[in-house]
Amino acid sequence: MSNDKPWDGRFTEPTDAFVEAFTASVLFDRRLYRQDIAGSIAHAKMLAHVGVLAEAECDAIVKGLLEIKAEIDAGTFTWSVALEDVHMNIESRLIAHIGEAGKKLHTGRSRNDQVATDLRLYLRDGVDTVIAAILRLQEALLLVAEREADSIMPGFTHLQVAQPVTFGHHMLAWFEMLQRDRGRFADGRRRINVMPLGAAALAGTSYPIDRAFTARALGFDAVAENSLDAVSDRDFAVEFTAAAALLMVHLSRFSEELILWSSSQFDFVELPDAFCTGSSIMPQKKNPDVPELVRGKSGRVSGDLVALLTMIKGQPLAYNKDNQEDKEPLFDALDTVLGSLRAYGDLVPNFRVKRDNMLRAAQHGFSTATDLADYLVRKGVAFRDAHEVVGRAVRYGIDSGKDLAGMTLEELQGFSAVIGADVFDILTVTGSVAARNHFGATAPAQVRQAIARARERLESAARK
Ligand code: ARG
Repeated sequence: MSNDKPWDGRFTEPTDAFVEAFTASVLFDRRLYRQDIAGSIAHAKMLAHVGVLAEAECDAIVKGLLEIKAEIDAGTFTWSVALEDVHMNIESRLIAHIGEAGKKLHTGRSRNDQVATDLRLYLRDGVDTVIAAILRLQEALLLVAEREADSIMPGFTHLQVAQPVTFGHHMLAWFEMLQRDRGRFADGRRRINVMPLGAAALAGTSYPIDRAFTARALGFDAVAENSLDAVSDRDFAVEFTAAAALLMVHLSRFSEELILWSSSQFDFVELPDAFCTGSSIMPQKKNPDVPELVRGKSGRVSGDLVALLTMIKGQPLAYNKDNQEDKEPLFDALDTVLGSLRAYGDLVPNFRVKRDNMLRAAQHGFSTATDLADYLVRKGVAFRDAHEVVGRAVRYGIDSGKDLAGMTLEELQGFSAVIGADVFDILTVTGSVAARNHFGATAPAQVRQAIARARERLESAARK
Protein backbone atom coordinates (compact mmCIF):
# COMPACT_ATOMS: atom_id res chain seq x y z
CA MET A 1 0.00 0.00 0.00
CA SER A 2 1.29 3.44 -0.87
CA ASN A 3 -0.39 5.31 1.99
CA ASP A 4 2.96 5.37 3.77
CA LYS A 5 1.99 6.19 7.34
CA PRO A 6 3.96 4.90 10.32
CA TRP A 7 0.72 3.24 11.52
CA ASP A 8 -0.75 1.92 8.26
CA GLY A 9 -0.03 -1.80 8.79
CA ARG A 10 -3.62 -2.65 9.66
CA PHE A 11 -5.16 -0.42 7.00
CA THR A 12 -6.18 -1.48 3.52
CA GLU A 13 -7.31 1.88 2.12
CA PRO A 14 -5.42 5.16 2.10
CA THR A 15 -6.67 8.07 4.20
CA ASP A 16 -9.18 10.33 2.53
CA ALA A 17 -7.33 13.42 1.33
CA PHE A 18 -9.60 15.82 3.16
CA VAL A 19 -9.50 13.76 6.37
CA GLU A 20 -5.74 13.71 6.17
CA ALA A 21 -5.64 17.49 6.17
CA PHE A 22 -8.48 17.77 8.68
CA THR A 23 -6.80 15.53 11.25
CA ALA A 24 -3.28 16.84 10.78
CA SER A 25 -1.79 19.10 13.42
CA VAL A 26 1.65 19.64 11.94
CA LEU A 27 0.89 23.14 10.72
CA PHE A 28 0.56 24.29 14.31
CA ASP A 29 2.31 21.68 16.46
CA ARG A 30 5.62 22.06 14.65
CA ARG A 31 6.17 24.83 17.16
CA LEU A 32 6.99 22.00 19.55
CA TYR A 33 9.93 20.66 17.56
CA ARG A 34 12.63 21.67 20.03
CA GLN A 35 10.78 20.06 22.90
CA ASP A 36 9.95 17.02 20.80
CA ILE A 37 13.61 16.51 19.95
CA ALA A 38 14.77 17.12 23.51
CA GLY A 39 12.20 14.60 24.73
CA SER A 40 13.30 12.03 22.15
CA ILE A 41 16.96 12.45 23.03
CA ALA A 42 16.24 11.95 26.73
CA HIS A 43 14.08 8.93 25.92
CA ALA A 44 16.78 7.35 23.73
CA LYS A 45 19.43 7.90 26.40
CA MET A 46 17.16 6.33 28.99
CA LEU A 47 16.57 3.32 26.71
CA ALA A 48 20.34 2.91 26.34
CA HIS A 49 20.81 3.36 30.08
CA VAL A 50 18.46 0.46 30.83
CA GLY A 51 19.93 -1.67 28.03
CA VAL A 52 16.97 -1.59 25.62
CA LEU A 53 19.03 0.29 23.03
CA ALA A 54 22.69 -0.33 22.23
CA GLU A 55 24.94 2.67 22.93
CA ALA A 56 25.78 2.90 19.24
CA GLU A 57 22.08 3.03 18.36
CA CYS A 58 21.48 5.71 20.93
CA ASP A 59 24.42 7.73 19.62
CA ALA A 60 23.11 7.49 16.05
CA ILE A 61 19.65 8.59 17.19
CA VAL A 62 20.97 11.55 19.16
CA LYS A 63 23.22 12.66 16.33
CA GLY A 64 20.42 12.27 13.80
CA LEU A 65 17.96 14.21 15.93
CA LEU A 66 20.41 17.05 16.42
CA GLU A 67 20.92 17.22 12.67
CA ILE A 68 17.18 17.35 12.15
CA LYS A 69 16.95 20.14 14.70
CA ALA A 70 19.58 22.05 12.74
CA GLU A 71 17.57 21.53 9.55
CA ILE A 72 14.41 22.83 11.19
CA ASP A 73 16.29 25.78 12.72
CA ALA A 74 17.68 26.60 9.29
CA GLY A 75 14.29 26.31 7.63
CA THR A 76 15.37 23.55 5.26
CA PHE A 77 13.22 20.79 6.80
CA THR A 78 10.24 19.73 4.67
CA TRP A 79 7.11 19.33 6.76
CA SER A 80 4.56 16.86 5.48
CA VAL A 81 0.86 17.09 6.27
CA ALA A 82 0.55 13.42 5.30
CA LEU A 83 2.76 12.66 8.30
CA GLU A 84 0.15 14.29 10.49
CA ASP A 85 2.06 15.87 13.33
CA VAL A 86 5.41 17.11 14.52
CA HIS A 87 6.20 13.76 16.14
CA MET A 88 5.80 11.62 13.04
CA ASN A 89 7.46 14.18 10.81
CA ILE A 90 10.59 14.09 12.91
CA GLU A 91 10.57 10.34 13.43
CA SER A 92 10.13 9.64 9.72
CA ARG A 93 12.93 11.98 8.88
CA LEU A 94 15.13 10.28 11.48
CA ILE A 95 14.46 6.87 9.95
CA ALA A 96 15.17 8.17 6.45
CA HIS A 97 18.32 9.80 7.77
CA ILE A 98 19.90 7.12 10.00
CA GLY A 99 18.05 3.92 9.02
CA GLU A 100 17.44 0.96 11.34
CA ALA A 101 18.38 2.63 14.64
CA GLY A 102 15.80 5.33 13.91
CA LYS A 103 13.05 2.72 13.91
CA LYS A 104 13.86 1.91 17.52
CA LEU A 105 13.34 5.37 18.98
CA HIS A 106 9.63 4.86 19.56
CA THR A 107 10.25 1.76 21.74
CA GLY A 108 8.38 2.01 25.02
CA ARG A 109 6.57 5.24 24.30
CA SER A 110 3.54 6.54 22.46
CA ARG A 111 2.65 9.81 20.88
CA ASN A 112 0.22 10.16 23.76
CA ASP A 113 2.88 10.53 26.42
CA GLN A 114 5.19 12.20 23.91
CA VAL A 115 2.83 15.06 23.06
CA ALA A 116 1.89 15.63 26.71
CA THR A 117 5.60 15.83 27.53
CA ASP A 118 6.35 18.19 24.65
CA LEU A 119 3.56 20.50 25.62
CA ARG A 120 4.62 20.65 29.24
CA LEU A 121 8.20 21.42 28.26
CA TYR A 122 6.99 24.10 25.91
CA LEU A 123 4.71 25.69 28.45
CA ARG A 124 7.35 25.55 31.16
CA ASP A 125 9.49 27.85 29.03
CA GLY A 126 6.43 29.85 28.10
CA VAL A 127 5.59 30.50 31.73
CA ASP A 128 9.13 31.62 32.44
CA THR A 129 8.93 34.09 29.58
CA VAL A 130 5.56 35.38 30.76
CA ILE A 131 6.85 35.80 34.31
CA ALA A 132 9.86 37.76 33.05
CA ALA A 133 7.57 40.00 30.99
CA ILE A 134 5.30 40.63 33.98
CA LEU A 135 8.34 41.54 36.08
CA ARG A 136 9.46 43.99 33.45
CA LEU A 137 6.07 45.69 33.44
CA GLN A 138 5.98 45.77 37.24
CA GLU A 139 9.34 47.50 37.27
CA ALA A 140 8.07 50.06 34.79
CA LEU A 141 5.07 50.72 37.02
CA LEU A 142 7.35 51.29 40.00
CA LEU A 143 9.31 53.86 38.02
CA VAL A 144 6.15 55.77 37.19
CA ALA A 145 4.85 55.39 40.76
CA GLU A 146 8.07 56.86 42.09
CA ARG A 147 8.00 59.74 39.65
CA GLU A 148 4.36 60.46 40.45
CA ALA A 149 4.27 59.72 44.18
CA ASP A 150 3.15 63.31 44.89
CA SER A 151 0.98 63.87 41.82
CA ILE A 152 -2.66 64.24 42.71
CA MET A 153 -5.53 62.96 40.66
CA PRO A 154 -9.20 62.45 41.38
CA GLY A 155 -9.90 58.93 42.63
CA PHE A 156 -13.13 57.51 41.32
CA THR A 157 -15.85 55.18 42.42
CA HIS A 158 -18.70 54.59 39.97
CA LEU A 159 -16.53 56.71 37.68
CA GLN A 160 -17.68 59.71 39.75
CA VAL A 161 -15.08 61.83 41.51
CA ALA A 162 -14.71 60.32 44.98
CA GLN A 163 -11.57 61.40 46.84
CA PRO A 164 -8.20 62.68 45.73
CA VAL A 165 -5.50 60.03 45.38
CA THR A 166 -1.93 60.12 44.24
CA PHE A 167 -1.10 58.91 40.77
CA GLY A 168 1.73 56.83 42.23
CA HIS A 169 -0.82 55.04 44.40
CA HIS A 170 -2.92 54.32 41.35
CA MET A 171 0.09 52.80 39.56
CA LEU A 172 0.72 50.62 42.59
CA ALA A 173 -2.81 49.23 42.31
CA TRP A 174 -1.90 47.98 38.84
CA PHE A 175 1.32 46.60 40.29
CA GLU A 176 -0.63 44.52 42.82
CA MET A 177 -2.84 42.98 40.15
CA LEU A 178 0.27 41.90 38.27
CA GLN A 179 1.85 40.59 41.44
CA ARG A 180 -1.06 38.19 41.88
CA ASP A 181 -0.95 37.27 38.20
CA ARG A 182 2.70 36.43 38.46
CA GLY A 183 1.99 34.30 41.51
CA ARG A 184 -0.67 32.39 39.61
CA PHE A 185 1.71 31.58 36.74
CA ALA A 186 4.46 30.55 39.13
CA ASP A 187 2.06 28.33 41.04
CA GLY A 188 0.77 26.69 37.86
CA ARG A 189 4.34 26.01 36.78
CA ARG A 190 4.73 23.52 39.63
CA ARG A 191 1.98 21.41 38.12
CA ILE A 192 3.27 21.89 34.56
CA ASN A 193 6.68 20.55 35.46
CA VAL A 194 5.62 16.93 35.98
CA MET A 195 6.68 14.32 33.43
CA PRO A 196 4.14 12.14 31.60
CA LEU A 197 6.77 10.22 29.61
CA GLY A 198 6.70 6.52 30.40
CA ALA A 199 2.91 6.43 30.53
CA ALA A 200 3.20 5.33 26.89
CA ALA A 201 -0.23 4.98 25.25
CA LEU A 202 -2.12 4.78 28.55
CA ALA A 203 -1.02 1.84 30.68
CA GLY A 204 2.74 2.15 30.85
CA THR A 205 5.13 -0.10 29.00
CA SER A 206 6.54 -3.60 29.36
CA TYR A 207 10.14 -2.36 28.99
CA PRO A 208 12.22 -1.82 32.13
CA ILE A 209 12.19 1.97 31.76
CA ASP A 210 13.77 4.38 34.22
CA ARG A 211 11.42 7.33 34.39
CA ALA A 212 13.45 9.17 36.99
CA PHE A 213 16.39 9.14 34.56
CA THR A 214 14.33 10.78 31.81
CA ALA A 215 12.79 13.27 34.21
CA ARG A 216 16.23 14.36 35.39
CA ALA A 217 17.48 14.72 31.83
CA LEU A 218 14.52 16.94 30.96
CA GLY A 219 14.54 18.99 34.15
CA PHE A 220 11.17 17.79 35.40
CA ASP A 221 10.57 18.09 39.14
CA ALA A 222 8.48 14.95 39.33
CA VAL A 223 7.17 11.97 37.37
CA ALA A 224 3.43 11.66 36.79
CA GLU A 225 1.99 9.17 39.29
CA ASN A 226 -0.70 7.64 37.11
CA SER A 227 -0.27 6.68 33.47
CA LEU A 228 -3.94 7.11 32.53
CA ASP A 229 -3.99 10.57 34.04
CA ALA A 230 -0.61 11.45 32.56
CA VAL A 231 -1.71 11.07 28.93
CA SER A 232 -5.09 12.69 29.36
CA ASP A 233 -4.45 15.52 31.82
CA ARG A 234 -4.60 18.99 30.35
CA ASP A 235 -5.37 20.76 33.63
CA PHE A 236 -2.03 22.45 33.39
CA ALA A 237 -3.06 24.03 30.10
CA VAL A 238 -6.33 25.20 31.61
CA GLU A 239 -4.56 26.68 34.61
CA PHE A 240 -2.10 28.53 32.41
CA THR A 241 -4.86 29.87 30.20
CA ALA A 242 -6.97 30.86 33.20
CA ALA A 243 -4.04 32.82 34.58
CA ALA A 244 -3.55 34.31 31.12
CA ALA A 245 -7.22 35.25 30.81
CA LEU A 246 -7.19 37.01 34.16
CA LEU A 247 -3.95 38.79 33.34
CA MET A 248 -5.52 39.97 30.08
CA VAL A 249 -8.57 41.18 31.99
CA HIS A 250 -6.24 43.23 34.16
CA LEU A 251 -4.43 44.62 31.14
CA SER A 252 -7.81 45.38 29.64
CA ARG A 253 -8.74 47.40 32.70
CA PHE A 254 -5.45 49.34 32.48
CA SER A 255 -6.25 49.89 28.83
CA GLU A 256 -9.68 51.24 29.59
CA GLU A 257 -8.19 53.75 32.00
CA LEU A 258 -5.48 54.86 29.60
CA ILE A 259 -8.06 55.26 26.85
CA LEU A 260 -10.27 57.37 29.11
CA TRP A 261 -7.37 59.38 30.49
CA SER A 262 -5.99 60.17 27.06
CA SER A 263 -9.34 61.46 25.80
CA SER A 264 -9.73 65.23 25.57
CA GLN A 265 -12.46 65.06 28.23
CA PHE A 266 -10.06 63.70 30.87
CA ASP A 267 -6.75 64.78 29.38
CA PHE A 268 -4.71 63.23 32.23
CA VAL A 269 -2.06 61.51 30.11
CA GLU A 270 -0.57 61.67 26.68
CA LEU A 271 0.42 58.39 25.08
CA PRO A 272 3.64 58.33 23.05
CA ASP A 273 3.07 58.91 19.33
CA ALA A 274 4.83 55.63 18.63
CA PHE A 275 1.94 53.80 20.30
CA CYS A 276 -0.89 55.58 18.53
CA THR A 277 -2.21 56.03 15.03
CA GLY A 278 -4.04 58.80 13.26
CA SER A 279 -7.25 58.81 11.33
CA SER A 280 -7.35 58.71 7.55
CA ILE A 281 -10.18 61.26 7.56
CA MET A 282 -10.04 63.28 10.80
CA PRO A 283 -6.75 65.15 10.96
CA GLN A 284 -6.98 65.96 14.66
CA LYS A 285 -7.17 62.34 15.80
CA LYS A 286 -4.58 60.45 17.77
CA ASN A 287 -6.02 57.09 18.62
CA PRO A 288 -4.87 54.95 21.55
CA ASP A 289 -4.61 51.84 19.37
CA VAL A 290 -2.34 49.79 21.56
CA PRO A 291 -4.51 49.97 24.70
CA GLU A 292 -7.60 49.44 22.55
CA LEU A 293 -6.10 46.35 20.94
CA VAL A 294 -5.01 44.92 24.26
CA ARG A 295 -8.51 45.52 25.62
CA GLY A 296 -9.91 43.79 22.54
CA LYS A 297 -7.46 40.89 22.72
CA SER A 298 -8.50 40.09 26.27
CA GLY A 299 -11.63 38.56 24.75
CA ARG A 300 -9.78 35.97 22.75
CA VAL A 301 -7.86 34.69 25.75
CA SER A 302 -11.11 34.25 27.69
CA GLY A 303 -12.26 32.38 24.58
CA ASP A 304 -9.14 30.21 24.65
CA LEU A 305 -9.93 29.27 28.23
CA VAL A 306 -13.50 28.33 27.41
CA ALA A 307 -12.29 26.34 24.40
CA LEU A 308 -9.93 24.28 26.56
CA LEU A 309 -12.42 23.64 29.33
CA THR A 310 -15.04 22.55 26.84
CA MET A 311 -12.55 20.43 24.91
CA ILE A 312 -11.78 18.45 28.07
CA LYS A 313 -15.28 18.27 29.50
CA GLY A 314 -16.69 15.27 27.63
CA GLN A 315 -13.60 13.08 27.49
CA PRO A 316 -13.49 9.64 29.04
CA LEU A 317 -10.06 8.38 30.07
CA ALA A 318 -7.51 8.17 28.66
CA TYR A 319 -6.12 9.98 25.60
CA ASN A 320 -8.57 11.13 22.94
CA LYS A 321 -7.84 12.96 19.74
CA ASP A 322 -9.83 15.90 21.13
CA ASN A 323 -6.65 16.77 22.97
CA GLN A 324 -5.01 17.80 19.73
CA GLU A 325 -7.28 20.84 20.01
CA ASP A 326 -5.38 22.00 23.08
CA LYS A 327 -2.56 23.55 21.13
CA GLU A 328 -4.04 26.43 19.20
CA PRO A 329 -5.85 28.01 22.16
CA LEU A 330 -2.81 27.52 24.34
CA PHE A 331 -0.41 29.02 21.81
CA ASP A 332 -2.83 31.84 21.14
CA ALA A 333 -3.11 32.61 24.86
CA LEU A 334 0.66 32.58 25.23
CA ASP A 335 1.28 34.76 22.17
CA THR A 336 -1.42 37.22 23.11
CA VAL A 337 -0.18 37.59 26.66
CA LEU A 338 3.44 38.01 25.59
CA GLY A 339 2.56 40.58 22.93
CA SER A 340 0.35 42.56 25.28
CA LEU A 341 2.90 42.50 28.10
CA ARG A 342 5.60 43.61 25.77
CA ALA A 343 3.50 46.50 24.47
CA TYR A 344 2.67 47.59 28.02
CA GLY A 345 6.24 47.20 29.22
CA ASP A 346 7.30 49.57 26.44
CA LEU A 347 4.41 51.97 26.83
CA VAL A 348 4.17 52.47 30.60
CA PRO A 349 7.50 54.23 31.20
CA ASN A 350 6.78 56.50 28.25
CA PHE A 351 3.36 58.00 28.70
CA ARG A 352 3.32 61.61 29.81
CA VAL A 353 1.40 62.47 32.95
CA LYS A 354 -0.38 65.83 32.77
CA ARG A 355 -0.10 66.69 36.44
CA ASP A 356 -1.80 70.08 36.27
CA ASN A 357 -4.87 68.71 34.54
CA MET A 358 -5.18 65.89 37.03
CA LEU A 359 -4.76 68.25 39.94
CA ARG A 360 -7.40 70.59 38.57
CA ALA A 361 -9.78 67.70 38.07
CA ALA A 362 -9.18 66.58 41.64
CA GLN A 363 -10.02 70.07 42.93
CA HIS A 364 -13.46 69.90 41.38
CA GLY A 365 -16.28 67.54 42.15
CA PHE A 366 -16.15 68.07 45.95
CA SER A 367 -13.44 65.46 46.29
CA THR A 368 -12.63 66.63 49.83
CA ALA A 369 -16.19 66.32 51.13
CA THR A 370 -15.24 63.25 53.19
CA ASP A 371 -12.36 65.22 54.68
CA LEU A 372 -14.80 67.91 55.81
CA ALA A 373 -17.01 65.28 57.44
CA ASP A 374 -13.96 63.77 59.19
CA TYR A 375 -12.99 67.29 60.34
CA LEU A 376 -16.43 67.77 61.92
CA VAL A 377 -16.13 64.40 63.64
CA ARG A 378 -12.80 65.47 65.11
CA LYS A 379 -14.66 68.55 66.46
CA GLY A 380 -17.16 66.31 68.24
CA VAL A 381 -19.95 65.90 65.64
CA ALA A 382 -21.26 62.35 65.09
CA PHE A 383 -20.30 60.98 61.67
CA ARG A 384 -23.90 60.64 60.41
CA ASP A 385 -24.65 64.25 61.38
CA ALA A 386 -21.40 65.38 59.84
CA HIS A 387 -22.35 63.56 56.62
CA GLU A 388 -25.66 65.45 56.57
CA VAL A 389 -23.98 68.83 57.18
CA VAL A 390 -21.48 68.31 54.40
CA GLY A 391 -24.24 67.10 52.08
CA ARG A 392 -25.94 70.45 52.54
CA ALA A 393 -22.70 72.32 51.94
CA VAL A 394 -22.20 70.37 48.69
CA ARG A 395 -25.77 71.14 47.62
CA TYR A 396 -25.03 74.82 48.24
CA GLY A 397 -21.80 74.51 46.29
CA ILE A 398 -23.57 72.95 43.29
CA ASP A 399 -26.20 75.74 43.30
CA SER A 400 -23.69 78.56 43.74
CA GLY A 401 -20.98 77.10 41.50
CA LYS A 402 -18.44 77.02 44.33
CA ASP A 403 -16.17 74.23 45.45
CA LEU A 404 -15.80 73.59 49.21
CA ALA A 405 -12.39 75.18 49.33
CA GLY A 406 -13.79 78.17 47.40
CA MET A 407 -16.35 79.05 50.08
CA THR A 408 -15.71 81.67 52.72
CA LEU A 409 -15.37 80.76 56.38
CA GLU A 410 -18.69 82.50 57.05
CA GLU A 411 -20.41 80.47 54.34
CA LEU A 412 -19.02 77.24 55.80
CA GLN A 413 -19.93 78.20 59.34
CA GLY A 414 -23.50 78.60 58.11
CA PHE A 415 -23.58 74.80 57.94
CA SER A 416 -21.90 74.12 61.27
CA ALA A 417 -20.75 76.45 64.01
CA VAL A 418 -17.84 74.19 64.95
CA ILE A 419 -16.02 75.00 61.71
CA GLY A 420 -12.93 77.15 62.26
CA ALA A 421 -10.31 78.76 60.02
CA ASP A 422 -8.21 75.58 60.21
CA VAL A 423 -10.79 73.90 57.95
CA PHE A 424 -8.97 75.17 54.89
CA ASP A 425 -5.97 72.95 55.65
CA ILE A 426 -8.09 69.86 55.16
CA LEU A 427 -10.15 71.11 52.25
CA THR A 428 -7.14 71.13 49.95
CA VAL A 429 -6.44 68.01 47.93
CA THR A 430 -2.85 67.97 49.17
CA GLY A 431 -4.06 67.94 52.75
CA SER A 432 -6.56 65.24 51.89
CA VAL A 433 -4.02 62.78 50.46
CA ALA A 434 -1.44 63.57 53.15
CA ALA A 435 -4.03 62.73 55.81
CA ARG A 436 -4.47 59.19 54.49
CA ASN A 437 -1.24 58.18 56.02
CA HIS A 438 -1.32 54.53 56.99
CA PHE A 439 -0.26 51.21 55.48
CA GLY A 440 -1.84 50.75 52.07
CA ALA A 441 -3.22 54.30 51.77
CA THR A 442 -2.59 57.06 49.29
CA ALA A 443 -0.38 59.59 51.16
CA PRO A 444 2.84 60.27 49.23
CA ALA A 445 4.88 59.07 52.22
CA GLN A 446 2.97 55.79 52.19
CA VAL A 447 3.38 55.44 48.44
CA ARG A 448 7.15 55.76 48.84
CA GLN A 449 7.17 53.08 51.51
CA ALA A 450 4.97 50.85 49.37
CA ILE A 451 7.38 51.28 46.47
CA ALA A 452 10.29 50.24 48.67
CA ARG A 453 8.38 47.16 49.80
CA ALA A 454 7.42 46.38 46.21
CA ARG A 455 11.06 46.51 45.17
CA GLU A 456 11.92 44.03 47.90
CA ARG A 457 9.11 41.75 46.77
CA LEU A 458 10.42 41.85 43.21
CA GLU A 459 13.93 41.11 44.37
CA SER A 460 12.83 38.16 46.42
CA ALA A 461 10.95 36.85 43.35
CA ALA A 462 14.11 37.24 41.26
CA ARG A 463 16.17 35.33 43.85
CA LYS A 464 13.82 32.34 43.62
N1 ARG B 1 -1.08 15.13 17.27
C1 ARG B 1 -1.55 14.44 18.44
C2 ARG B 1 -1.99 15.46 19.50
O1 ARG B 1 -1.71 16.59 19.31
C3 ARG B 1 -0.48 13.58 19.01
C4 ARG B 1 -0.96 12.39 19.76
C5 ARG B 1 -1.69 11.50 18.85
N2 ARG B 1 -1.98 10.27 19.42
C6 ARG B 1 -2.76 9.37 18.81
N3 ARG B 1 -2.98 8.26 19.39
N4 ARG B 1 -3.33 9.62 17.66
O2 ARG B 1 -2.60 15.14 20.49
